[in-house]
Amino acid sequence: MASINKGTFSDSNHSVHASSSKNPPQNLKEALILKLSKKEAPFAPKSFDTFGNIAVLEIPKELSKRKKLIGKILLKVHPRFETVCSIESNHKGAFRIQKVKVIAGKKQTLATYKESGCTFLIPLGKVFFSPRLSGERLRIAKEIKKGEIVGCWFSGVGPYPIVFSKHSKMKRAVAIELNPAGHSYAKKNLVLNKVNNVELVKGDVKKVYKKYKRVFDRIAMPLPHTGYEFLKEAFFCIKPKGIIHFYEIIVKGDFDTPTKQIVLSAKESKRRVKLLRSARVRQFSPTKEQVVFDIQMLN
Ligand SMILES: C[S@@+](CC[C@H](N)C(=O)[O-])C[C@H]1O[C@@H](n2cnc3c(N)ncnc32)[C@H](O)[C@@H]1O
Repeated sequence: MASINKGTFSDSNHSVHASSSKNPPQNLKEALILKLSKKEAPFAPKSFDTFGNIAVLEIPKELSKRKKLIGKILLKVHPRFETVCSIESNHKGAFRIQKVKVIAGKKQTLATYKESGCTFLIPLGKVFFSPRLSGERLRIAKEIKKGEIVGCWFSGVGPYPIVFSKHSKMKRAVAIELNPAGHSYAKKNLVLNKVNNVELVKGDVKKVYKKYKRVFDRIAMPLPHTGYEFLKEAFFCIKPKGIIHFYEIIVKGDFDTPTKQIVLSAKESKRRVKLLRSARVRQFSPTKEQVVFDIQMLN
């Protein structure tokens, strides 16, 4: 059987073999191998991300002329999806947006996705969203103590503050997002999930942070690649004894580089810190991984 893991659907546990009509293909790769040429078959994708009603997958350039076929086959093997989209670019720009294109099924890019008992509307291609961070959101939610004020910076369509609101006894959260589309869908998602202890701020953390001097018991900073540029602002806003959850992409195993950045930035801000935990969150590329640092303030 295929398995769903943190929004990623992988058929990869299956051994690939030709199926007869008595044994119809059970997974995407197996079904694709029956339709692709011998030359194409080794490139057949075996996993994809699931955003509720929409499946999204990366199609290697060797199969760029077979996108429609791949989409149709995915729908046939997994009929619970309404739409299949292909990924058309890397995450780009300040909004970290990835272009997508509908290749099969209903012509739509608005996903309705469920995670940890919460529902999210996600306009794919207009906002960043990763189902692969669902475990992180729930992990942090379970660490939040009653009465905490939480900063959810770089909040997108609101998955961090909404999961926190539903799975913790926090007092309130302040969610800051630069992308107007992200902010607008975060508003819709608050209503959809009947959440009323989250304040949404549309804007640049660099411009609004001064309003929150020593306000937060905890700050989540899911902005890998450039998050270190906001450590100074986080140290300005976090209370003594507060905790910062800082994300970064590193060359596998190189926890030292971000650790040095954290220590230097804390020193420049005249704050003392203790590294509570550093851990791998997910694979980013064959040579890189996404990691999280939980930083405890000592003053
Ligand atoms: C990696 S995404 C995370 C989104 C969301 N937290 C999630 O997990 O789905 C980073 C987000 O930060 C936003 N962003 C980038 N620079 C920002 C800034 N200076 N101030 C506020 N938001 C920013 C981007 O638009 C994007 O939505």
